[in-house]
This record gives sequence, C-alpha cells and structure tokens, in this order.
Amino acid sequence: MKVSIIGGGGLVGSCAGFALQCGGIAQEIALVDVNADLAAGHALDIMHGSPSVADQVITSGSYEHIPSSDVICITAGLRRKPDESRLDLINRNTDLFVEILRNVKAAGLKQSAKVLVVSNPVDILTYVAAKSLGLPEDHVMGLGTQLDTIRFCSLIAEQLKVPATQTRALILGEHGDSMVPIWSSATIGSLPLEKYPGWNLNLANQIFTRTKKSGAEVISKKGGAGFAVGIAIRDVIESILLDQRRILPVSTVQTGCYGIRDVALSVPTVVSRCGAKQKLEIELWPKELQGLRSSAAALRPTLDAVLKRVGM
Ligand code: 2OP
Repeated sequence: MKVSIIGGGGLVGSCAGFALQCGGIAQEIALVDVNADLAAGHALDIMHGSPSVADQVITSGSYEHIPSSDVICITAGLRRKPDESRLDLINRNTDLFVEILRNVKAAGLKQSAKVLVVSNPVDILTYVAAKSLGLPEDHVMGLGTQLDTIRFCSLIAEQLKVPATQTRALILGEHGDSMVPIWSSATIGSLPLEKYPGWNLNLANQIFTRTKKSGAEVISKKGGAGFAVGIAIRDVIESILLDQRRILPVSTVQTGCYGIRDVALSVPTVVSRCGAKQKLEIELWPKELQGLRSSAAALRPTLDAVLKRVGM
C-alpha cells in the first residue's frame, strides 16, 4: 500500500515518513512538498536507511503521487508561534489547506483512498476536508487527540516511573485548549490509575495541564513537534493499512455520538482499512461528557467562520 505525505518536506511530514519507514508496513512512502528539494532530500536520507529497516519504495515529488495513493496524509501548514493558539492559526492555514484539497481533487484520488489530516487546527480542517473531497466521510479523519493521548500517557508513565507501553489514558475532544482528559478509563497495566500507588488529584491536574501545553512547550524549545507527531501518525496509518481496527481518538465529523453533531473532534473510533469504521460511545463520568460537549461548542464559532470564509 502507498502512503503520500503532503508536506513531506517539513518537520512533521518528514518525521511521519521516517516513522512509517521504521514501522516497515507501508510499501511505498512518497514525500510531497512544494519545496521539491527538501522533500527529495528527506526521501533520500530516509531511503539510505532502507537496508537496515524494510524493503520499501521511498520517493518524493508532487501531486502525481496522489492517484496511486491508498492513504494521503496532509501535514502541510504554517507552525504555531509559541504564544499562538491553534485556532489563531486558522486563517493563515485555511487558504493553504483549501488549495491543497483543490490540487488533490484535480490530481484525482481513488474512491478507496483514506485521508488523514494533521495540519492545524486539525479538527476544523478535518471537517473541511471531509465535506469537500468527495470521498465517503468515514474515509477522512484527523490526527485529533491521538498525539495528545500518547503525550498524556508518556507524562503519566514518567511521573509514576511505570512502563509507558502499559499506560493507557485517553484525551478526547478538540486537539486544542478544550481537550478533555478521560480519567474514568485510565489504567496502568490494566489496573485503575486512580487507585495506583502515588497517584493523587494534584498530580492528575499537573499532568493534564502539561499535556495541554505540550505542543507550545515543544515549540518554545525546538520550534515545533515532529517525532511524537510522526509516531501518532504511524499509529493511525498502520491501523488502516493492516486493518487492525485499533480504537483510536481520531477526529471525524460527528453524527450523534455523545449527542454531538456536525463538528469534527475526537471520540473513541475503530480505525480499519475502511477508515473510521465505528465510533464507540463508551461510558464517561458526567464531567467528562460535559467537557466533550463543551469542546464541541468551543469549535463551533471558528468552524462557522471558516465555512463562511471558504464558501461552504
Ligand atoms: C502539536 O500539538 C503539531 O498540533 C501539534 O504539537
């Protein structure tokens, strides 16, 4: 299966390409970017590692790769400034994103193709993509809070000195300021987090606050996130390629789950070869459910403004 990464010349896109190489599942990885030299440089650098990883085709180019792609990942966009919220970024990125969608449609894409939006604000742009690409809506998803979820788990594991791979704690809602921690189902090695030795409410609040600000924290230190974003992208794309049906908090256009409609945000979703196959309305604590609905409400004004701006 072939994966094309639009924005593959940038930090997020190239890290996604490298993560997919290390996963060894994607048969072909194409880095697509307006900066052809940068994309070609990253592709060459990644290809040089092939003999020690997997037999894959690693290439670069432009929209000529789209018609043969099974998964199209869109990471292109301007990065946030340290003090800039993701929603503030919207106007700078909307015009660029709409142009990318226009080019993708003009190039022609398989009706079976799946699209993963990473560009920020990801929930807004996922909605725009789902409504304008002409694919079945469940073929279009956004990285959503999968990145926040793995950040959250990594910080909990670091604090409690437990294996990160046995730490499970979901973030749902907006990939942004209104994201919601889901403590009710959090576990360490299948044991309830809230009963784990050393865990307390103060620690919980500290870790969630740091999770929410992790994007800005990384930006302030190194200019922008890349490695963990690449891993989160690989989580989603490999679940599609392998038909793993992993339950991941990807962003999709909501059609009633938790009473939320007509906005894109992250709820537990079965990700398979068919795309966002099923949304799972797992039981939440009342405050978690309220947080999720508040997240939908927080996205609405910006979504309405963007839809007006792009004439949808
Ligand atoms: C982040 O949170 C890029 O939005 C992404 O770092």
